Amino acid sequence: MKHFLKETDFTVAEAAKIFAMARDFKRRRARSKGAKSVLAGQTWAMIFAKSSTRTRVSFEVGIHELGGNPLFLNCRDIQLGRGETIEDTARVLSRYVHGLIVRTFAQDDVERLAAAGSIPVINALTDLLHPCQIYSDAFTLAERWAPAGGDLLRSLRGRKIAFLGDVGCNVANSWIVGANLFGMKISLAGPKSYAPGERIRTLLADQGLAAGYHYTPDPYEAVADADVVYTDVWVSMGKEREEKQRIRRMRPYAVTAKLFAAAKPDALFMHCLPAHPGEEVAQAVLDNPRSVIFDEAENRLHMQKAILAVLARAARR
Ligand code: CP
Repeated sequence: MKHFLKETDFTVAEAAKIFAMARDFKRRRARSKGAKSVLAGQTWAMIFAKSSTRTRVSFEVGIHELGGNPLFLNCRDIQLGRGETIEDTARVLSRYVHGLIVRTFAQDDVERLAAAGSIPVINALTDLLHPCQIYSDAFTLAERWAPAGGDLLRSLRGRKIAFLGDVGCNVANSWIVGANLFGMKISLAGPKSYAPGERIRTLLADQGLAAGYHYTPDPYEAVADADVVYTDVWVSMGKEREEKQRIRRMRPYAVTAKLFAAAKPDALFMHCLPAHPGEEVAQAVLDNPRSVIFDEAENRLHMQKAILAVLARAARR
């Protein structure tokens, strides 16, 4: 069974097709052309243990637009939240629905759901990775950089992304994997105690990728020659108890107008959202014409429709 639990669950060739499909879905939607046959008659369950705006709404709308039925299940409301095993949950839901979309804490939990069930599983964010976000972000960049009708993935090769702030968070981890997969360079700047370490090197090695990333404690070094400046909130879900020390340690890595200006003159600003203006990023940077934050959010819908379509087709074989 094909799943999407991490960026490398698709090969580069498969990812290229998914990117092209996302572009096609986006164009069709702009022309009000439907694609109702893709998930016709299917129900996809969405098990969420954490809050969400973009991921939940884009998946629910996307499944509906593909002709399927999204079934939102708050973890607290199902027996999984009261101790039913992950394996039994996967086996039972496999008898009812055609796929699972899961937002939870441990990456191991999505791996176990995928291993025990007999339907596709999509990782909608774990503490370790956020692969739907990174595919959508990379598509957002490729849309800008690829020549009209040209190869989207190829346009990413050799480009540099600078990630600032919480360099140990799931989005940073996923961008390290994604940059390696898509042939980009990545430089990360944040407090040394959060720097990517053995865990990310193991993750890359397990996925057959070289440990290609650069870490520096100096934010200006990271953004030098960068095509993209990226940041995320400093206090991710589940880290609320560390709030004060995280804000104190990460303050030097806030993306200010001055720091953004130190990247390439045509550099783009990205943030997976939600943002905390005045904390990890200045309002002026969020409002900058080179900020593509709402394109990123929109593209979650188009990219996830492509991922759903590919997994549903693979499951039918
Ligand atoms: N970027 C993202 O995953 O947003 P939500 O937490 O709102 O889903």
